[in-house]
Amino acid sequence: MKHFRNVDDVDNIQDLAALGRALKADPYAYRELGKNKTLGMVFMNASLRTRLSTQKAAINLGMDVFVMNMQGDGYTLETGDGVIMNGNTQEHIKEAAAVIAEYCDVIALRSFPRFESREDDYNEKIMNQFVELTGVPFINMESATVHPLQSLADVITINELKKVERPKVVLTWAPHPRALPQAVSNSFAEWMNRIDVDLVIAHPQGYNLASKFVGDASVTNNQNEALDGADFVYAKNWSSYENYGQILSQDDSWMITEGKMALTNQGRFMHCLPMRRNVIATDGVMDNGASAVVQQAGNRLWSAQAVLKSILESNF
Ligand code: CP
Repeated sequence: MKHFRNVDDVDNIQDLAALGRALKADPYAYRELGKNKTLGMVFMNASLRTRLSTQKAAINLGMDVFVMNMQGDGYTLETGDGVIMNGNTQEHIKEAAAVIAEYCDVIALRSFPRFESREDDYNEKIMNQFVELTGVPFINMESATVHPLQSLADVITINELKKVERPKVVLTWAPHPRALPQAVSNSFAEWMNRIDVDLVIAHPQGYNLASKFVGDASVTNNQNEALDGADFVYAKNWSSYENYGQILSQDDSWMITEGKMALTNQGRFMHCLPMRRNVIATDGVMDNGASAVVQQAGNRLWSAQAVLKSILESNF
């Protein structure tokens, strides 16, 4: 694997997930692999899980790591071409990305959508600029449209917990007071479409995801119908793709409650975190043993370590 930008960079999802589980069983087996190699982690946005799990994964492989939080510590980046930089932006991405690449062997970037232009976001303008300008192996730590490290951890978690060969997996929209990216939902749907699950996506009208991510999933506006017999319930808010970045509904009847989980096949509750309790899902759902969110977050470490190991082996 040269880069890990999205699911298309992965030859075989289940092989990569199996590697993650093997690393979970024996975390320090490849301690020498990353010796004298540096991972540069660049964050344009906040993070808890991605930052800590990816850093720990690199350490387990013997790498050195630096973390750059652009929001608090860096200069405000300009990404446009030909801009007269006499406004708020202080440094051009052309210099910043190239300079960061001078200091590391692998670059990982988190860059959320700006919601200024759907075209720019869905063309992954910032991520692709970084990949091109740095010229070193690249890891996507959540870009404008996808979050593949999260999706790989989700596959690992489903493999660990599934009780039937082909589980019913429901991705359901849930309310939220702020306009959130579609990245986790896009990515989850895209990865589920490529493994052996029965995928149903439930959301209110106006919240269709882009068709390339929906793939072969069944789509419904009836959440209760979707939850019937589900083995996994993945709740996530996303803002509208069609009315790009807008909040069209805050209908709290879409919040996941214990009553809704009772419709499932003793289903497990999943969320990428961070999650607003009693907005996305109730305290009862989170605390009654159905929730798999901590295991999911724990598997972010093995997801990142599997990706880093593959990148180190392919590039050096
Ligand atoms: N799920 C996830 O990416 O968490 P963070 O935003 O805390 O990194």
